[in-house]
Amino acid sequence: MQYFSEDSSAEVVIQQYKNCKNKRLKKIMESAINHIHEFVKEVEPTQEEWMFMIDYLTKTGQKCDSKRQEFILLSDVLGISALVDTINNRKTLNATESTVLGPFHVQNAPKKDMGANINYDGKGEPAFIYGSVSDTEGKPISGANIDVWQANEDGFYDIQQPDVQPEMNLRGIFTTSEDGKYWFKSVKPKFYSIPTDGPVGDMIFATGRHPNRPAHLHYIVSAPGYKSVVTHVFVRGSEYLDSDAVFGVKDSLISEYVKIDDQEKAKELNFKAPYYELQFDFILDKT
Ligand code: BEZ
Ligand code: FE
Repeated sequence: MQYFSEDSSAEVVIQQYKNCKNKRLKKIMESAINHIHEFVKEVEPTQEEWMFMIDYLTKTGQKCDSKRQEFILLSDVLGISALVDTINNRKTLNATESTVLGPFHVQNAPKKDMGANINYDGKGEPAFIYGSVSDTEGKPISGANIDVWQANEDGFYDIQQPDVQPEMNLRGIFTTSEDGKYWFKSVKPKFYSIPTDGPVGDMIFATGRHPNRPAHLHYIVSAPGYKSVVTHVFVRGSEYLDSDAVFGVKDSLISEYVKIDDQEKAKELNFKAPYYELQFDFILDKT
């Protein structure tokens, strides 16, 4: 019989999980206990520090509601969301890489006709976005759904500003044509700050970090028979590409918004020159 001591702590606690029938749960609990006890032994928190931690996690939970998930944000800024995503979507062949979903996707975005403009507030620099969806052998995938969403010129998503932005501003679902192509109109994204009016913001500022994400456009691309990809396209040259607050940047996801200063071409799109063009081609892996 071994009693609890500083040396035996993890072993003694793990012992109490020996009858856990669920093998996966047992492994998770054992590993979590080992790592947390190791952490406590390394840091040696004072009672006050441990109560601060309890209070911090309590406030994190209290900040959550149906529109705000502070625990996901905490996981994001600690790099855990990015790590879980990377582990679960290890790059296979030449398929498009994934990145974090973030908290601003909505399930009921409107289906849009190809070529539609999803910028309803009229702010920002116009952009024409186009590309293709194909399989890993280069065969076009028709009927693929391309769910897009982005923040507006002021750095907020529509659901963050329900009284300010038109509903469903800068989001929509497009379906690829016979030849796997897609195109739509939007604005060039700008960098923005993740929400900082909660415990995550307190931690960001207390530790001297910044809360910004580099400019990006979100995508979920899906098609029957293929693995969906949750990803972003980042604006080449954006601030914060090298220090994304949620660690979502991957080299293969950075692309150029090319400035087009051509009155004729702009007119065809109902834009004023100059405007921007972004091409991004997706490659999906079979399930
Ligand atoms: C986003 O890109 O929308 C996002 C991702 C993680 C945390 C906050 C925002
Ligand atoms: Fe975002």
